[in-house]
Amino acid sequence: MIGIVLLSVFGFVLVMLTIMTYYLRGIAQKTAADDEAGVNVENKKEEIASSQNFVYTALVLVSVALVASLYLYVKGTPWEAHLMEWLNIVVRLMHITFGIAWIGASFYFVFLENALNRTKDVRDELAGNLWAVHGGGFYYLEKYKVAPKTVPKHLHWFKYEAYFTWISGFCLLFVVYYFNASALLIDKNVLNITALQGIGIGVGSFVVAWIIYDLLCKSPLVKRPILFTLLGFTFLVGFAYFYSLVFSSRAAYIHFGAMIGSIMVANVFFVIIPAQKAMVNAAKKGLPLNPQLGKNALNRSLHNNYFTLPVLFVMISNHFPSTFGYEQPWLLLVIISLGTAGVKHYLNLREKGQLSVWVLPVSVVILLAGAFISAPPKDPGACNSKIEFSEVNAIIQARCITCHSSKPTDDVYKAPPNGVMYDTPDDIVKKATLIMQRVVVTKTMPQNNKTNITQKERDIIRCWIEQGASTK
Ligand code: HEC
Repeated sequence: MIGIVLLSVFGFVLVMLTIMTYYLRGIAQKTAADDEAGVNVENKKEEIASSQNFVYTALVLVSVALVASLYLYVKGTPWEAHLMEWLNIVVRLMHITFGIAWIGASFYFVFLENALNRTKDVRDELAGNLWAVHGGGFYYLEKYKVAPKTVPKHLHWFKYEAYFTWISGFCLLFVVYYFNASALLIDKNVLNITALQGIGIGVGSFVVAWIIYDLLCKSPLVKRPILFTLLGFTFLVGFAYFYSLVFSSRAAYIHFGAMIGSIMVANVFFVIIPAQKAMVNAAKKGLPLNPQLGKNALNRSLHNNYFTLPVLFVMISNHFPSTFGYEQPWLLLVIISLGTAGVKHYLNLREKGQLSVWVLPVSVVILLAGAFISAPPKDPGACNSKIEFSEVNAIIQARCITCHSSKPTDDVYKAPPNGVMYDTPDDIVKKATLIMQRVVVTKTMPQNNKTNITQKERDIIRCWIEQGASTK
C-alpha cells in the first residue's frame, strides 16, 4: 500500500520536473538567440545554468526514490527478483559505458602525451604537437608547455565520465553484493560477520585506501620512483590479502577493483580537476602558474593509467571462478594485476617510441605463472571403485537442490540461479562438465559452501564424472 502511494507521488513529481526541463530549454534557446544578436546575457545564462543543475539533480533524486518505491511495491512478490535483475542490467550497462568513455579518454591522453612530437617544428610556447587521421579527417593537436596566453571560452573538461563510472559502479556494488550480502558478500567459512559489518568494512576500506595512497603520493617518496612503486605494490598486496580474509573470494576481487577504482576517481576529483581549475584561473588572471600543479596532476593521471587493466580484469573476474576459486585468491589477483599493469607499461613505452626488450616477456611470464599455479592437480587421486549414480544423486539432492531446483528452498534464491536445476537425473548428466568445473576444480559450488559439502563428496562427484557420468 505504502509502495503504491509513494510511486504515485514520485511519479507525479517526475512528470512535473520533466515538463520544467522543457520550459527551461525554451528559455535557454531564446537566451542563446539573444546572445547571437549581441545582447548581454551573462547573468541570465548563469541563472539558467543553476536552474538546470537544480532540475537535473532533482530528476536524478526523484528517479532513485521512484525505484525505491517500486522496490517496496514489489517486495515479496515474484517481481522483486525481476526488478533486481533489470536494475542490474541498467546499472551495469551504465557502468560499462561510462567506464569505456573514461578509460578510453585515459588511454587516448596518455597516448597523446607519449606520442607527442616534441622536437620538430615546435613553437616556443608549445610542449609538442601531433598529427592524426581518424574517421575520414585529419586532426592537428598542440600541447602547451603551461597555458595559452588567453584561455579559450570553450574548454573541454574530462571529468563526468570518471564521476559517473564511480557512481554507477557504487550502485552496482549495492545491487549485486550489498543487497544480497548474505549470499554474495559474506562467506561464513571465511569470516562470520553480519551484512552491515561487511558493508561497513567494504565502504570504509575505500576511504582508508585513499588516505594511505594520497599520503604516499604527497610524501617525498614520489621522487624515488622505484621505491614508490615497490611500496605502492605492497599496499595493493596488503589490501588484496585483507579482502580475502573478510569477504567471499568473489566479493574480495570486486572490492579490490572497487578500491582501486575509488582511488582513480578520487585522483580526478581531489587532485587533477582542482589543479586544472587553479591553472585555468591563474591563466585567466594572467598570474604566474605553478608548474608543480600540472606535474602532480599528470603523475596521478599516469597512476590511473596503470590501474586500468587490473581494474578491467576485476570487472570480468566474476565470470571466471577458476581465478577467485583458487585456494589463495589474493595471490592470483595480485599476480594478474602485476602482469596486466606490466603489459600497460610496455604499451606506454612503445607509444614513446622506446623499444623495451624485457617488459612484455616478463609480464607475460607473470601472467602464465598465474595460470600455472591455479591449474588443477594433474593427478587428483585414484578412483578405485565404480561410483553408482544413486550416490551422486544423493549428494546433489543434499547439497545443491536448495538452490538449483525449479522451486528452491534457499533463503536468498527463490528461482534457480542461472536457470540451473538438478531435479532429474538428465539435468545432472547434461551439466556434468560444468559441475566438474565448479564443484571439483574451483570449489566455487555450493556457493560459499553454504550446504557444507565435504571433500569426500567432491571426490565422489569427480570419480563419477571421470567414469563417464552415466546414470546406469
Ligand atoms: C546457496 C545456493 C547454491 C547452492 C547450494 C549451490 N549453488 Fe550452484 N549456483 C548458485 C548461484 C547463485 C549460481 C550463479 C552464480 C555463479 O555462477 O556463481 C550458481 C551457479 C552454478 C553453476 C554454473 C552455471 C552456469 O551457467 O555457469 C553450476 C554448474 C552450479 N552452480 C552447480 C552447483 C552444484 C553442483 C551444487 C551442489 C554441489 C550447487 N551449485 C549448489 C547457487 C548455489
